[in-house]
Amino acid sequence: MSDTSEIGIGLLGMGVVGSEVARNLLLKADRLAQQVGRPLRLRGILVRDKSRRRDPAVPPALLTTDPEDLVARQDVHVVVEVMGGLRPAYDLIRSALSQDKHVVTANKEVMATHGPELVRLAEEQEVSLLYEASVGGGIPLIGPLHKDLLANEVSSLHAIINGTTNYILTRMSQEGASFQTALRQAQELGYAEANPANDVEGADAAYKLAILASLAFHSQVTGAQVYREGIARLSAVDFRYAQELGYAIKLLAIARREDTALSLRVHPCLVPEEHLLAKVDGVFNAIEVEGDLVGKVVFHGQGAGAKPTASAILGDILEVACNIASGRKPAHTGNLKDGLSILPIEELVTQYYLRVTVSDSAGVLAKIATVLGDLGISIASVIQKAADAASQTAELVIMTHPAKEAYVRQAVQQMKALDVVREVGNVIRVEQQA
Ligand code: NAP
Ligand code: HSE
Repeated sequence: MSDTSEIGIGLLGMGVVGSEVARNLLLKADRLAQQVGRPLRLRGILVRDKSRRRDPAVPPALLTTDPEDLVARQDVHVVVEVMGGLRPAYDLIRSALSQDKHVVTANKEVMATHGPELVRLAEEQEVSLLYEASVGGGIPLIGPLHKDLLANEVSSLHAIINGTTNYILTRMSQEGASFQTALRQAQELGYAEANPANDVEGADAAYKLAILASLAFHSQVTGAQVYREGIARLSAVDFRYAQELGYAIKLLAIARREDTALSLRVHPCLVPEEHLLAKVDGVFNAIEVEGDLVGKVVFHGQGAGAKPTASAILGDILEVACNIASGRKPAHTGNLKDGLSILPIEELVTQYYLRVTVSDSAGVLAKIATVLGDLGISIASVIQKAADAASQTAELVIMTHPAKEAYVRQAVQQMKALDVVREVGNVIRVEQQA
């Protein structure tokens, strides 16, 4: 006789994502049971504050503030972690795996910091650890990198993988919205992290890039190894000048294999406006993977928000449940054996956009050209903008040919020391090949 007993789920967290997961587990129970062949039953939901108003579809009796008790329950077979943050989420995932529970998580911070160790523990315990929702919201990425693209030698990833910052940049560039207004709206829409500094300063994208790069390059990468700059230095004039030059400004996450090293970086980029990534707006994410067999493939979809993220989590829950129902062992392909080193950012060679405020007088351009020329940095174009008669200043927008980051940094320091330079307003890398 076939086993028709319930598969029990313990949900850690009922915020933006957890609420949508709980709703679907409850409201689509019959459909999910049909797909799995056994009923899925939500046993309990961890929250911090039981008195908060919650979704009326969720019975209050399911709420608990005792995580260890929920994880340890005999009738919980799958633990779904959507509480966020490193701790206690990491400890609870470890505890669940150690107690032979399958785990589904959306937590990029935990996976980018402790992923390989947790995958090893899951392997030892012969349980699943699935984390599709940790990168790209509802876009399938972890699955394809684990399986469909596994035969490829991946050479690069170019990605927009933070919905909050892409939403903010889109609102700023298309509607002239202020940074603060756009961020507030992203928070209201449920896109931002509990601490939005993680989005704005590039940490969230760095965690996600570490997860993708580990899978794509079979090499252990942590979030801390990714060079990152956030979007706070971008101003309205940068968007205007970029547009005039034929570029969009995007927060890109880039991983590229350079012989035996990996270049890993998250920072604002000028992207040619005809390129696909330049057209990815709002909360949408896009990830371009280049492999030796497949060529370039692009994954595109909503990278944040309750429903797209719940889609990925429920997909993982169904995979685990189907494995339990059929008695199949979980498949682990976390083979991180290539051991590539990380290229320092100073070694990067790319093009640069420099915005420099100078005194509007004779000979200024020559002094700046000398600084750049002496360091071997070739100028592709210079435009003089926004001359201000009152302060006798002008703004120069300089585009360089490909140059080494270390020399560009030296040039910026030397320019700042020139008596004719009032301010180096911004330096933005240009990604022609995105
Ligand atoms: P959220 O709205 O802040 O919800 C967090 C939930 O966890 C809340 O229910 C909170 O309880 C609970 N919680 C947090 N710390 C707790 C603790 N120490 N003890 C007990 N309960 C605790 O977060 P979210 O936006 O749903 O994100 C959850 C996870 O999904 C994060 O890892 C995030 O990075 C990831 N993710 C989010 C999105 C998105 O679009 N939001 C997309 C992809 C992945 P209370 O309700 O009582 O405060
Ligand atoms: N805060 C994240 C973002 C959520 O905006 O992309 C999705 O991981």
